[in-house]
Amino acid sequence: MASSSSSSSTTSWLQCSVFLFILVCHGRVDAAGSTGSISKVENAVDFHIYYGQAFKVIKNAIDGKSYLLIQNNSRMASRTKYCTSRIKSFVVPLSNYSIDADYFPVSFFELLGVLRSLKGITSDSVASQCVLKLYEAGEIAVVNKSETQELAQFGAHFITNTDQPQSCNFVSFVPYGEETPLQRAEWIKFLGVFANAESRANQVYNAVRESYQCLIKLAKDRTSFKPTVAWIQYENDIWSFTKETYKLKYVEDAGGENVDASINKITYNISNPEDLDELHAILCTVDVVIDETFTSDPVVYNTSTFLKNINVEDHSCFVFLSNQSLWRYDKRIHNSTALDWYNGAVSQPQLVLADFIEVLFPTGNYTTTYFRNIAKDEGVVQIVSEKCDRDVSVAMEPTLPVCG
Ligand SMILES: *[C@@H]1O[C@H](CO)[C@@H](O)[C@H](O)[C@H]1NC(C)=O
Ligand SMILES: *[C@@H]1O[C@H](CO)[C@@H](O)[C@H](O)[C@H]1NC(C)=O
Ligand SMILES: *[C@@H]1O[C@H](CO)[C@@H](O)[C@H](O)[C@H]1NC(C)=O
Ligand SMILES: *[C@@H]1O[C@H](CO)[C@@H](O)[C@H](O)[C@H]1NC(C)=O
Ligand SMILES: *[C@@H]1O[C@H](CO)[C@@H](O)[C@H](O)[C@H]1NC(C)=O
Ligand SMILES: *[C@@H]1O[C@H](CO)[C@@H](O)[C@H](O)[C@H]1NC(C)=O
Ligand SMILES: *[C@@H]1O[C@H](CO)[C@@H](O)[C@H](O)[C@H]1NC(C)=O
Ligand SMILES: *[C@@H]1O[C@H](CO)[C@@H](O)[C@H](O)[C@H]1NC(C)=O
Repeated sequence: MASSSSSSSTTSWLQCSVFLFILVCHGRVDAAGSTGSISKVENAVDFHIYYGQAFKVIKNAIDGKSYLLIQNNSRMASRTKYCTSRIKSFVVPLSNYSIDADYFPVSFFELLGVLRSLKGITSDSVASQCVLKLYEAGEIAVVNKSETQELAQFGAHFITNTDQPQSCNFVSFVPYGEETPLQRAEWIKFLGVFANAESRANQVYNAVRESYQCLIKLAKDRTSFKPTVAWIQYENDIWSFTKETYKLKYVEDAGGENVDASINKITYNISNPEDLDELHAILCTVDVVIDETFTSDPVVYNTSTFLKNINVEDHSCFVFLSNQSLWRYDKRIHNSTALDWYNGAVSQPQLVLADFIEVLFPTGNYTTTYFRNIAKDEGVVQIVSEKCDRDVSVAMEPTLPVCG
């Protein structure tokens, strides 16, 4: 079903390319268009935005796909419809939309103030108290992900996992491809374009970026000692160190040091005594550990679980244990299955950085948002609808930590 609706032919692609070429070139001249505000991509590298008079184009740099967004009050809106493997058209502002709930950072929509137009989710496992509230009030429906015909009723269906058949209204939203926390946060502009909410997107991104940069400076000015940090995870007998650049960046930006890059490449099989010895030695040099190990039940994951997985008898040299600095990013969860780390932390990296600064240089005077210290037996915080205490018709404000 999905493949037939996104059929493409050479002729339609050719027509599209010529059409888009003309539009985009004129668009550069006409710039602002009828809505007044435009977004410029400053840091992110995986998408581009172009403006025309009555339309906009978003180009996804990773897969080369383009979205042609046509203003609802233009003549083009009723006459033009594209759905090829390269180009899809949408009428904006979207009057409604749905999301594939798996790892979708829905907080971007909350910051834009367009949560009320969210009408469909593919599961009720969502780490947002206000989405849960709307769902419980019957304003958002759960739609079976396999029912593409039901998903087709929405103005757009946003997904983060692009490894799936995509119908005409599917939009790939992929901040996860970017390498730095701020680049990921800038994807608010991508969604802003679909809602004609460019000025709000710019405003939020600027506030987030300023806050983030202020915190970097604060961390730089404050310290000469750089604690060594390891992000590690365990799966099927194997421990490995993170390779994800944005995580390493958080450590640097907070004033810490990452374990040597040569270590990141290697995996350690706990059933192999030599591997285990090597892992043991590395962990003896580390001041702070972030345990990223997946668990189906974060509530019961504690230091005992970590030690059992590490399988090292003698951990007397583990400074991160004696100094109580063993962390996980599953502090805020909904129903064990959805982590706010994959939601709010993506759109508001300044909060993650503020957490990180507290992790590396504890003051005891700051409550972390996303990280919990299992060495101190810190538990999880459940995300429930009752905690949604704002008017969902109004945009959520970014939280800006004290800086300086
Ligand atoms: C276009 O969208 C705006 C904002 O949602 C709405 O008020 C207006 O009625 C729409 N116009 C048309 C012609 O659909
Ligand atoms: C979703 O739809 C598919 C195919 O129609 C079906 O096999 C599956 O059982 C449905 N899942 C749920 C949870 O209803
Ligand atoms: C979504 O908006 C479209 C028009 O863009 C409308 O046809 C459809 O009925 C709406 N669906 C829902 C679930 O609100
Ligand atoms: C780990 O090592 C054990 C013992 O050498 C071996 O049986 C197992 O397959 C290894 N696991 C992986 C995932 O390589
Ligand atoms: C242990 O933690 C304290 C703060 O809680 C810090 O000042 C100290 O540098 C840490 N020691 C090591 C070796 O990391
Ligand atoms: C971890 O949790 C288990 C049960 O879930 C408990 O038996 C154990 O004592 C806990 N360990 C620590 C260090 O709190
Ligand atoms: C988790 O979600 C499932 C399905 O939505 C529900 O049946 C279950 O009661 C929930 N558990 C908790 C602890 O909220
Ligand atoms: C704790 O934070 C508050 C507010 O930022 C500040 O006024 C106070 O001086 C801090 N206390 C300590 C001990 O750092």
